[in-house]
Amino acid sequence: MSQNTRRPTIHEVARVAGVSIGTVSNVLNGTAVVRPELRVQVEQAITTLGYRPNTIARMLIARRARESGLRISAGPKLTSVGYLSVDYTARVDALPRRDDRLTAAGIEKSLGGPAANVAVMAASLGGRWAIACELVTALGNDTDSEWALSQLAARSVETIAIRGGLDRRLSRCIILVEPDGRRTIVNEPFVLEETNVVRYLDHAPEDGKCHCVHFDGYQVTTMADSIPRVHDLGFITSVHTTGLPQDWRTPEAFRHLRAGFDLVFVNRDVARDILQFSGSDSEIVRRVQRLCLDTLPSKAKGLVLLTLGASGAALFAADDKVLMQSAPPVETVDTTGAGDTFVGVFLATWLNGESPAAALRYAVTAASLSTTAEGAQGRRSTAEDLLALAGEDHGVAAAEKSSARIA
Ligand SMILES: Nc1ncnc2c1ncn2[C@@H]1O[C@H](COP(=O)(O)OP(=O)(O)O)[C@@H](O)[C@H]1O
Ligand SMILES: [Mg+2]
Repeated sequence: MSQNTRRPTIHEVARVAGVSIGTVSNVLNGTAVVRPELRVQVEQAITTLGYRPNTIARMLIARRARESGLRISAGPKLTSVGYLSVDYTARVDALPRRDDRLTAAGIEKSLGGPAANVAVMAASLGGRWAIACELVTALGNDTDSEWALSQLAARSVETIAIRGGLDRRLSRCIILVEPDGRRTIVNEPFVLEETNVVRYLDHAPEDGKCHCVHFDGYQVTTMADSIPRVHDLGFITSVHTTGLPQDWRTPEAFRHLRAGFDLVFVNRDVARDILQFSGSDSEIVRRVQRLCLDTLPSKAKGLVLLTLGASGAALFAADDKVLMQSAPPVETVDTTGAGDTFVGVFLATWLNGESPAAALRYAVTAASLSTTAEGAQGRRSTAEDLLALAGEDHGVAAAEKSSARIA
């Protein structure tokens, strides 16, 4: 295609306007956070280049139209705050040694980052668990950011970009996969240059509408001051403790999280850090329950979810009940993002009115299925898939039997 017939991209608009792609998308999106002078710059660049919004922009514009009048009927909504990255996965015969140069069978690019995974997995369900999903994250000015934005749009996730510097690009992650499936991961630091998340939530939830704001653990420490305000505005709040720094992995910090968030998601590794204990799962469950009993959840709904890898997950309810759910037998290829799938599916089904016990069952099933394909978002379950599988008993009955209190 010759240069002059090619349609200008959102990337070029951003470059000409001297802003990030996220800002361009925010202008198209009608989000209130764009400063007027930046908005003018973007609008001028759009005119100069003769930019015609593509599918993503059209989707964002559709959203603006929807928000400014014809509201879609009040369904549940999930806002996931945090990490988005582009993962480069290389399959290698063996890990390189110093000064080695190797050829991988292929280097694949995929979308990753815990907050992005949660939003995508929730949005993929559809059907009776349809939920509006948005991701509040940092976008850069590079082609990876544009690519991620289009991938997210294709997976029905709206992206709300936090302003970044002009030189910003999307955070990258390199994953080396050995023939036996083991992974060696190199991450870049990821910082959301924002401490006040309230700015990105366009309005308080309407009466009767369940709107949950979910944080990945990497962002909680910097956003800690604004989180209580999110709660006070009427949002349901949720946190994934994976990614919490070491000094937040203490019984004291856990009590604090439990008092401040409606839902707290913990995996076995983090639970071991918090408890300073590395014994059996059943003992971990008992100790987490004891820790939960120590804290009265204040305004919070008080749900704690503990995931235990291939062993499934446990739910600790506000009334001290513990529910165990075993995982279905699956052919696991890649467990990356299993915990994120668990969170996304739990939230989407629970916000759609499923009981915590049912949401637990669906979350475990979807998370286990997600491990049967490569990549964090490689296997995305739909509501239809999960409902079909829920008919097959994989320990559901056993789980219900053990739902009695663990003394
Ligand atoms: N090896 C596995 N086999 C089957 N299911 C798994 C496996 N690993 C994870 N899962 C599923 O994913 C959920 C979350 O996994 P877990 O490993 O606890 O989280 P994380 O991704 O944080 O390490 C589990 O509750 C389970 O349903
Ligand atoms: Mg795991």
